[in-house]
Amino acid sequence: MTKNPYQPMLATVIAIKEEVGGNRAIKTFKLEFQDEKVKENFNFLPGQTIMISLFGIGESMFAISSSPTEKRYIEVSVMKLGKVTNALHEMSVGDTVGARGPYGNHFDIEGWKKKNLLFIGGGIGQAPLRSLLNYCLDNRNEYDNLEVIYGARTSEDICFKEKFDEMQKQQDVDVHLSIDVQEEGWNHFVGFVPANLQRLNPSPENTIAITCGPPIMIKFVIQNLLELGFKENQIYTTLEMRMKCGIGICGRCNIGNVYVCKDGPVFSYDQLKDLEGDM
Ligand SMILES: Cc1cc2nc3c(=O)[nH]c(=O)nc-3n(C[C@H](O)[C@H](O)[C@H](O)COP(=O)(O)OP(=O)(O)OC[C@H]3O[C@@H](n4cnc5c(N)ncnc54)[C@H](O)[C@@H]3O)c2cc1C
Ligand code: FES
Repeated sequence: MTKNPYQPMLATVIAIKEEVGGNRAIKTFKLEFQDEKVKENFNFLPGQTIMISLFGIGESMFAISSSPTEKRYIEVSVMKLGKVTNALHEMSVGDTVGARGPYGNHFDIEGWKKKNLLFIGGGIGQAPLRSLLNYCLDNRNEYDNLEVIYGARTSEDICFKEKFDEMQKQQDVDVHLSIDVQEEGWNHFVGFVPANLQRLNPSPENTIAITCGPPIMIKFVIQNLLELGFKENQIYTTLEMRMKCGIGICGRCNIGNVYVCKDGPVFSYDQLKDLEGDM
């Protein structure tokens, strides 16, 4: 009998970290597969996603936010939005979830060796970038300059703040944070992410720019990157269309003739610009 592709594997929540509080809270869930063979053999690459199910409630797709260099567990960083994500935020260490995947394509970690990588994220859009960034930090000699431009609405909304602080101290990554409106004590940039990008004026020379965040941010980031001289095949983004099956069957996530779940979610602007009319 062939295996049911919708059948999830069981995973235990082994740690929960609150990244951001408030209305649009974000938590990172560390998940360990219960089956010893799955735990040993589960492989993924940065950029890939996983469908998490909460029994009796529903399932949702998330980027795997941990690096594949961290073995025996995966992490997902989840913003509380609706039915599934609210229920996930109510979970405790020791609870069980379903997980099926990994799905989709991934960032080109091999092809980007010896290049400068410019990460441009906004809000929860940093989740898939975190997997790639942590992977690069664990293989630091393989990549040239690593630079992060990250923005959130307020300082309270900055996701993975401790990691950014640590990277700034260790100085092996240039980190440029921003918030939308001035706050007392904030001594980084104030304004939107595309404006911070324009101000920093990074060189396109031997550089790949990877961006993820709200669609409006992505639109203006890409526009500014092109103005800075980045070529279409030097710009990558990862898309978050609504998904159901995650495996190219239901037809829910198509843009033109492309299924985001299996042909993406990672696309170069080169590929994406031809699909813009269908988005
Ligand atoms: C490839 C991919 C990667 C993703 N990675 C992450 C991640 O790392 N972290 C994270 O927090 N979320 C991520 N998402 C979005 C996540 O899947 C949705 O937030 C989640 O499904 C919402 O489920 P819900 O039942 O809580 O909300 P619902 O009750 O279904 O909806 C609540 C609100 O969220 C909106 N919404 C629902 N699904 C999506 C979606 N896919 N994209 C945009 N808006 C949506 C609805 O329109 C509605 O306004 C990703 C989605 C995809 C497809
Ligand atoms: S989510 Fe079903 S085809 Fe992509």
